[in-house]
Amino acid sequence: MLRTQVGIVGAGPAGLVLSQLLALDGIDSVVLENKTRQYCEERIRAGVLEWGTVELLAQSGVGERMRREGLVHYGIELRFAGRAHRIDFKDLTGRSITVYGQHEVIKDLIQARVAADGRIVFEANDVRVEDLNTNKPKIQYFHAGESHEIHCDFVAGCDGFHGICRPSIPSAALKLYERLYPFGWLGILAEAPPSSEELIYAYHERGFALHSMRSPQITRLYLQCDPEEDLAAWPDERIWRELHLRLAGGRDWKLNEGAILQKGVTGMRSFVVEPMQYGRMYLAGDAAHIVPPTGAKGLNLAVADVRVLARALKDFYSSGRTDSLEAYSQTCLSRVWKVQRFSWWMTSMLHRHEGNPFDHRRQLAELDYVASSRAASQSLAENYVGLPMD
Ligand code: APR
Ligand code: PHB
Repeated sequence: MLRTQVGIVGAGPAGLVLSQLLALDGIDSVVLENKTRQYCEERIRAGVLEWGTVELLAQSGVGERMRREGLVHYGIELRFAGRAHRIDFKDLTGRSITVYGQHEVIKDLIQARVAADGRIVFEANDVRVEDLNTNKPKIQYFHAGESHEIHCDFVAGCDGFHGICRPSIPSAALKLYERLYPFGWLGILAEAPPSSEELIYAYHERGFALHSMRSPQITRLYLQCDPEEDLAAWPDERIWRELHLRLAGGRDWKLNEGAILQKGVTGMRSFVVEPMQYGRMYLAGDAAHIVPPTGAKGLNLAVADVRVLARALKDFYSSGRTDSLEAYSQTCLSRVWKVQRFSWWMTSMLHRHEGNPFDHRRQLAELDYVASSRAASQSLAENYVGLPMD
């Protein structure tokens, strides 16, 4: 039988940042992850870090490579109706964002945990959480064909949207809020230098498109598509043709093409579970909420949750206080809902909705308003760089 203070299920950004923050406060944890280390380190996900996320990673001792290789951006561009408009974060908020792939953040965190003898069990199968309503919850799992049990003081459910922690809570104890969107994103990773230094969010009558990047050599691009889109219908030439059409609009701007290294389709949803806690188990990150990717918030929200959780656990272990733990869900949800609102707003403004021409006109008016009003630009900017973490 193993013993730890905090048993963490999932080695995504939520689980790994939590174990790192706890270790800095002298609190012991074990992370259980059902995939291999290589899989976790290579899985391509989002790549935009808010100001506060960058600060937190740096203060936690995992910011060295991010500071060196991350691309610091002081704005984004909106394109619509043949126009290009820059939202200047520096002028509007004094802050920046950093483009640094989620899998790079994961590599840095795993390396830091392993170097400090932190316990991460990869390929932990059939993970189950038990006795959540007692002071001694347990986690059971199989590893290398053998059954194991960890006794903990607390469990952190950081196992993403499809994990086992949320479904282990009796459904009567939870309230779910959900919105599905009638479109998805076809994303590609291309071996081509980015065509612009900053991200470009384009609203076009053929649908939304996004120009992003991972490094000075690699471009990340997305096209709005059907959520069930068949990739076989999208040979490389069609993808490039569509990207050229939808991203057109900047003066003297040209989209760089290159070999497509990866292609995929993702659906989009907004989802929140309340409360984010059951007995001695706390949910964090995608296990508790999902945002559509348009605001680039998923990873940042996961980090904001575990920051709150790590502080509450520190209060508990240092002085026996339970008030921060009791307030965990409420504290997180006030940020979660603001971020849900922003992600929904960006998504609704920038995607083509089938059917009603009213929406098309309204969206153009909204974009024109954002581009022409300092107050509206500032609202976008302060949400994009990240609301303050208190
Ligand atoms: N047992 C153990 N581990 C599990 C299980 C399980 N039953 N189910 C899922 N996991 C692992 C996954 O393999 C993954 O590594 O939990 C981890 C969850 O990580 P994420 O899905 O990345 O979720 P989170 O850490 O909350 O981060 C949210 O990541 O998915 C992106 O876009 C999302 O940026 C957002 C961020
Ligand atoms: C990305 O680079 O993958 C990315 C950037 C911005 C988004 C979503 C994804 O809004």
